[in-house]
Amino acid sequence: MTKVIQTIAVRKPDDWHLHLRTGRILKEVLKYSSSNFGRAIIMPNLDPPVVTTQQAKNYCNQILDFIPKEHDFKPLMTLFLTEDSDIRDIEEGVKEGIINAVKLYPAGATTNSENGVRNISKVYKLLEKISFLGIPLLIHGEATQSKIDVFDRESVFVTESLIPLRKRIPNLRIVLEHITTKDSADYVLDSDQNLAATITPHHLIINRNSMFIGGIRPHYYCLPLAKRELHRLALIKAATSGSSKFFLGTDSAPHFDHLKENACGCAGIFSTPNALSCLAHIFEQELALEKLEKFISLNGARYYGLPVNKSYTKFSKMNTPKETPKKINVGENSITVFDPGFSLFWEHKNIRDKN
Ligand code: NCD
Ligand code: ZN
Repeated sequence: MTKVIQTIAVRKPDDWHLHLRTGRILKEVLKYSSSNFGRAIIMPNLDPPVVTTQQAKNYCNQILDFIPKEHDFKPLMTLFLTEDSDIRDIEEGVKEGIINAVKLYPAGATTNSENGVRNISKVYKLLEKISFLGIPLLIHGEATQSKIDVFDRESVFVTESLIPLRKRIPNLRIVLEHITTKDSADYVLDSDQNLAATITPHHLIINRNSMFIGGIRPHYYCLPLAKRELHRLALIKAATSGSSKFFLGTDSAPHFDHLKENACGCAGIFSTPNALSCLAHIFEQELALEKLEKFISLNGARYYGLPVNKSYTKFSKMNTPKETPKKINVGENSITVFDPGFSLFWEHKNIRDKN
């Protein structure tokens, strides 16, 4: 018989980095976010990307149309920054309350980022203006030159692009997205202000070996790539530390299985169905369950200058493992759910009050 052996209630979590896609994929994946999270920062790397406030409004309406009636979920829209982005349009979007952040992708760094920024110094003027708007700049922090080793791209970006950018525009509030190295965690922790980082559940669970166990494992391929074990351990330390500079961004990034299990497979891990159970497991293992609420529910809202969610989520540890879907179906296609490689014992449900 399944028994509850431990419980913990936290403010309802938010996801500060989420890919929802459009159309049929959006329709199928959205419920896993809207049932468990209060809000999510919606990534703009569609094809074509979400560059203007009007495009963000249209995309927001598409999302709102698919949210199940019984779910209480708010998509927080972002704009994809290009070298030609129009600051007046961004200002307008922020004023109207539709735009919550601008996302900088170095051109070619990841899925649908071809229209991203080729030369950061070309957008300095734009970023200076964004620094007055009260919204953060979200950064996919990887250098893109093909000569740079793929495992070094985050470190090179921090040294060659992020540090100069922060010197040049110290008032620009930045989120370094999905950090994967000890170096990034240390850099964020040591910085005095205007810098925070999201961390994904999968980078807390897999290291780079996971991609090659007995063969090539496309469902553990994401960008930035998982790194060595020492980096995974440093990320766990950062996430469970309680420091207000680190918060959850699942970077859940659904791709059809046939496009991942492919001679040139796409990067991205779809983790929303079990992200919260995975995190409760990790925090429990680290004897840091009392820090879970900061990481998943408090720190992100604070950094974005938003109130925390009013309702709560109750986590219950069961004495038997939870059933989780291995795949979800989208028409005749499927999307594989992140497999953490261990059984999950933590269930969670939304509750109105803490007690
Ligand atoms: C993301 C995607 O597929 O949109 N992929 C990924 O591996 N994380 C893009 C991104 O955040 O890099
Ligand atoms: Zn992402």
